[in-house]
Amino acid sequence: MEKIGVLVVSYGAREAAMVDALSRSPNYKVKLYVADKQRNPFNVEKAAKHVVIPDLNVEAICQFAEANKPNIDFAIVGPEKPIIEGARDQIEKQTGIPVICPKQEYAIEVSKVQQRLLFDEIAPEANPRFKVFSPKDYAGTPEVKQAVYRWLDELDNQAVVKPDRPTAGKGVGVWGDHFNTREQLFEHFMSNFQYGTVLIEEKIDGEESSFMAFCDGKHLAVLPSTRDHKRAFDDDKGPNTGGMGSYKDVEDHLPFMTAADRENELAIAQKIFQHWTAKMPAPSAVRGVPLYLAFMHTRGGPKILENNSRPGDPEIINILPVLKDDFVDVCYGMLEGSLSHVEVKKVATVLTYKVPPSYGGYAQVYPRKVNSPEMDTPVDLSAAYALSAKFGDRIRVYPGSIELRDGKTYALKSRVVGVLGVGDSIEEARTVSLEGIDAIKGGALWNRSDIASAQGIQKSIQHMRQLRA
Ligand code: GLY
Repeated sequence: MEKIGVLVVSYGAREAAMVDALSRSPNYKVKLYVADKQRNPFNVEKAAKHVVIPDLNVEAICQFAEANKPNIDFAIVGPEKPIIEGARDQIEKQTGIPVICPKQEYAIEVSKVQQRLLFDEIAPEANPRFKVFSPKDYAGTPEVKQAVYRWLDELDNQAVVKPDRPTAGKGVGVWGDHFNTREQLFEHFMSNFQYGTVLIEEKIDGEESSFMAFCDGKHLAVLPSTRDHKRAFDDDKGPNTGGMGSYKDVEDHLPFMTAADRENELAIAQKIFQHWTAKMPAPSAVRGVPLYLAFMHTRGGPKILENNSRPGDPEIINILPVLKDDFVDVCYGMLEGSLSHVEVKKVATVLTYKVPPSYGGYAQVYPRKVNSPEMDTPVDLSAAYALSAKFGDRIRVYPGSIELRDGKTYALKSRVVGVLGVGDSIEEARTVSLEGIDAIKGGALWNRSDIASAQGIQKSIQHMRQLRA
């Protein structure tokens, strides 16, 4: 077996899933070098060398890469921050190690305005109506208020407010969910506008799906559609989070989508990719997952909610453990420009996240639980890991925002641990995921109980039927 070394830049459970996929390679013996946000117990165990860089700053990542350069064949970067800050450009320049992620210039999530303008040029039919509000264009609050209200007249108030800069979903406000009056909307708008440009887009009614593709700069090796649930609470209620759980079906499209919906998504993604890369001096600048598109399926076809230039978290966890191809070969394909296709097993997967009481607005809803003494207790993952005796490879437990300290693991502030269930149906996969989630004790962690529930999926199907009628 060929021996190789891989540097993984890691934030949470998404990268634990990457580490897992690399270390399970059937064709290579992989020595792992992990630059991590915290002492993730999974990564610490799997890595030959593990370093904690809490802010994932590119300079420190480069130093770690440089120190281990002779042993590293390539690097892969999962999280958004180092990609936006130029991890690829700097690691490649300073060390010569090839890196899987887009170059800084093409990490287009850095500006939602830039994204909308790009999509307007290439795929206007998939772009919701939007208006850009920049502080430099207005003399004061009354003037911008007048302009915002005029735009709300045109949208009949059905609006979504989005800061231009990435805020991990937290700056986004939706009419009817986060505010019900123009005054509330304007207050939310101003809380972002004081820091910079804000977009107000039309709110679109439909069902969401995530589109991702691995990319070698020449091809999009498309992955099955997944559904992420971003809202904190059951029934898609509460504030937006990074994503509380996600699922994929046996087929490439989701139960509420038609095969034609999926074809439409692919056509839009291909069109964007072709036009976008045609203008690039070297298309390999966009290797990795440059198009992770959140689509809304509407009465009028798919619309783009946003794009990110990295794998979705949790959505990529629905895919990596069920790749038919060796993930190392997939990585080499991305580096060599020879990856036109990726094979994924025909199974369903469901990922549920467990999170701390301080996450996603729970603290406001259940203040007493937040103060529970259990909060400071270690999180015990052992019973969840032990379920592999029952489920084999159909269960995967991926720690994220959790830290190894004195031989025990303690929850940090973000999504603590994800449990993936794999099955021949969504229901089967969900049962496995929830059994794993229930086995995790300590830390006063909580989770949504309805990720991929039959009732939730039926609701999405009915909603799409209603829209299409
Ligand atoms: N699942 C949401 C995200 O990765 O941005």
